[in-house]
Amino acid sequence: MTTISQALGEARHRLQATSPSPAVDASILLCHVLGCSPSHLIAWPDNQLSPHQAMQFEEILQQRVDGKPVAYITGEREFWSLSLKVTSDVLIPRPETETLVEFVLEKFSSSPALTVADLGTGSGAIACALAAERPAWNIIATDSSTEALDIARHNASLHKLENIRFVHGQWLEPLTGLDLDLIISNPPYIAFDDPHLVQGDVRFEPEAALASGKQGMDAITHLARQAGQHLKAGGWLIVEHGYDQQQLVYDCFQQAGFENIVQLTDLAGQPRVTAGQHGKSGYAR
Ligand SMILES: C[S@@+](CC[C@H](N)C(=O)[O-])C[C@H]1O[C@@H](n2cnc3c(N)ncnc32)[C@H](O)[C@@H]1O
Repeated sequence: MTTISQALGEARHRLQATSPSPAVDASILLCHVLGCSPSHLIAWPDNQLSPHQAMQFEEILQQRVDGKPVAYITGEREFWSLSLKVTSDVLIPRPETETLVEFVLEKFSSSPALTVADLGTGSGAIACALAAERPAWNIIATDSSTEALDIARHNASLHKLENIRFVHGQWLEPLTGLDLDLIISNPPYIAFDDPHLVQGDVRFEPEAALASGKQGMDAITHLARQAGQHLKAGGWLIVEHGYDQQQLVYDCFQQAGFENIVQLTDLAGQPRVTAGQHGKSGYAR
């Protein structure tokens, strides 16, 4: 029979070669099998795993040793205090993206009923976080992946969020006829030949959620050029981007006619978010 402490020790050891966070991974995976919190593992190190639990743990530990991301193994990831379902059809929501959510909530804190689009919603992370915090906002969440939209719908209903409408389509195409206050997106922004795409957890995520052209700028450029047609005068486009794309995104927003451009860093101090206001005159190229 194996105790909690022995199972964790063995798992940490086996994960050392392939995971950047062996202790955290081992704890999350064992909690997943035992259906308990991390504090239970600390409180009851001598409790024994049943043979069935030991077998289940071995199975998922091996998946992690083979490189599969923890969130795809457990099927969930926390974002903005919401537990979200994730599968290999969606990007695993990142803590950096909470910078974008935080900015939007702070900047538009006194705006009662905005119409907001989350383009490329994936798991629905951004849309669900905003919908939970601002029940009066009317949110449209889109994606070109029907599988991703199914997951996003599931997450909205899991958290009983009724102010999100999900629409399938390419970038701004599903917004035809709408006049929006905010267009928000965490689009793919990695260069298609970036070596990170074939390393670590990222290699398990959908390529369409990650890569976007030679410089990683195709989606952002498209959004900046087209967003003005769907924004009210004075409306905002807000995008997440790579830490090294700050100047490229600034130039792109400026060329598209956006004003009052603001750029923000994430908690790690990396440039991560750019926001621009659609000219009051309604001008954007
Ligand atoms: C970086 S992921 C972001 C997912 C989620 N918003 C998040 O922050 O975790 C980019 C998303 O854009 C979607 N996407 C890629 N190309 C698209 C397109 N042409 N039109 C609409 N969505 C697209 C992908 O399917 C993916 O869900």
